Amino acid sequence: MLRTNTCGELTIKDVGKKVTLCGWVQRSRDLGGMTFIDLRDRYGITQLVFNMETNAALCEQARKLGREFVLKASGVVAERSNKNAKMETGDIEITVEHFEVLNASLTPPFTIEENTDGGDDIRMKYRYLDIRRNAVKQALELRARMATETRNYLNSQKFIEVETPVLIKSTPEGARDFVVPSRMNQGEFYALPQSPQTFKQLLMVAGLDRYYQIVKCFRDEDLRADRQPEFTQIDCEMSFVEQEDILQTFEGLVRHFFKAVKGIDIASVPRMTYADAMKYYGNDKPDIRFEMKMVEMDNVVKGKNFKVFDDAELVVAICAKGCAEYTRKQLDELTEFVKRPQIGATGMVYARWNADGSLKSSVDKFYSANDQKMWMEKMNAQQGDLILILAGEKSKTRKAMSELRLEMGSRLGLRNKETFAPLWVLDFPLLEWNEDSKRWHAMHHPFTSPKPEDISLLESNPGEVRANAYDLVINGVEIGGGSIRIHNKELQKRMFSLLGFTDEDAQAQFGFLMNAFEYGAPPHGGIALGFDRLCAMFGGSDSIRDYIAFPKNNAGRDVMIDSPSKISDEQLKELGITRTDTGKN
Ligand code: AMO
Repeated sequence: MLRTNTCGELTIKDVGKKVTLCGWVQRSRDLGGMTFIDLRDRYGITQLVFNMETNAALCEQARKLGREFVLKASGVVAERSNKNAKMETGDIEITVEHFEVLNASLTPPFTIEENTDGGDDIRMKYRYLDIRRNAVKQALELRARMATETRNYLNSQKFIEVETPVLIKSTPEGARDFVVPSRMNQGEFYALPQSPQTFKQLLMVAGLDRYYQIVKCFRDEDLRADRQPEFTQIDCEMSFVEQEDILQTFEGLVRHFFKAVKGIDIASVPRMTYADAMKYYGNDKPDIRFEMKMVEMDNVVKGKNFKVFDDAELVVAICAKGCAEYTRKQLDELTEFVKRPQIGATGMVYARWNADGSLKSSVDKFYSANDQKMWMEKMNAQQGDLILILAGEKSKTRKAMSELRLEMGSRLGLRNKETFAPLWVLDFPLLEWNEDSKRWHAMHHPFTSPKPEDISLLESNPGEVRANAYDLVINGVEIGGGSIRIHNKELQKRMFSLLGFTDEDAQAQFGFLMNAFEYGAPPHGGIALGFDRLCAMFGGSDSIRDYIAFPKNNAGRDVMIDSPSKISDEQLKELGITRTDTGKN
């Protein structure tokens, strides 16, 4: 070892010891007679001190060291006269006797400290410098810890870790595939897995009983803060189980994470049907850290000649506790918020129940105080509360109200990042109608089984069929999803046919799975948790990028290695691909 200790471990107990440390120069301060250097490594920062009086030559050399130079410094641990209680090593410093520059450094393009002055792009371009920063390093440490705890728990539950291939054929999970041309089979392509879905099902047919994998998945979809084109899942599958067994097992995993990583005991995870989630929260991943449930108001608002409400498919309201005193400006801001194109409401109606008992709404022309009193009763509102109402087409209005509810939750400080509210959402519809393609799509994926009591509706009323599918939601973020699978060839065929596959197409794409079902497929089901999202949630961030060592930017580019990039004509030729653009190599 080049060093005796790390930069994060020496304390007052070590005073007098001779030590050697290695690390990077974070900061250097020249105070005339003394020069101080903060030396950083993964474990912390230790102050090095050079004294002009006792060793002028060494001090002169130390003054020349630039930021991020790599040093090996030897000396004696001394008690500091000026202690720093904020640092683990703040009671001591090293009186350096000699040092060696292991490598010089250019001046870094941004400050490598807790808070940096570097923008996103520059930090991503020099990600190896960004990772030197404590905040980013800690995010990666948290990720490693979560992976270890995943293995600890799943191994203890007899799950076996199996790797599945990365060069596969397309699995229909709803996104576009990334494809890889085959040199040996020209004109043919592999697809990178959107998930190992079919393989994990085949491992159940193979009798492995309980499988897991912390696995990279690839989806060519539009990116957001919680989406990357390559991301990681904790992917699991179990045999001889029903939905309840999966919920129990993975509730156990969630509880284990919270206990082991955060020291928090989670009570049992509540459950909500998809239908209730949509009705009361306006989306399928409710943030239940706070109540503010949506209330459908149609029967108390219609028939008073207010066209907006009379013509609406749905009139829905939320009650913001204690907000009756909101100013005109605050209400205008909320109206602007819901009218933004991404939210899409045409306007917002409010009604206040003032502290003095009076009622005031933005539609007083149409509704008397008595009418408004009824609204307040319906909303379970109290004096001092404000109700906010949206109206219009059902699904759009629910979606807009869901956003408004979250915005109000944030404004009222009800979405604390250190409060965790996990939830199971159950009974998803099996299928959803797609207007563009004019056909049914699987809401989860085509291998999800319908609820047995709904199977008879498959052909007659597909939209009403519920699936044995479930999502794990924490604080309004979809952390995971899964289902009990179809394990019967005939039912799987019916499903493909509903999704518009001809028998030939289904056989060509999924024959391998349906054939396997003929060799004794056990009943099985599983789930996959988004590992990056889980880590970001535990780290208190909305962006999964902070928890990925080398993430892509919003345009799907890795700006550090400059990828994707053109490939040479020779490579293309070998692959049997003709270049059609005129861009440079
Ligand atoms: P699903 O498609 O719901 O299910 O994915 C499971 C979880 O993976 C995470 N996730 C993502 N995370 C980051 N970036 C992305 N682009 C991204 N896409 C999905 C989410 C999501 O809940 N094979 C099924 C699982 C199963 O049925 O067992 C599947 O992949 O947190």
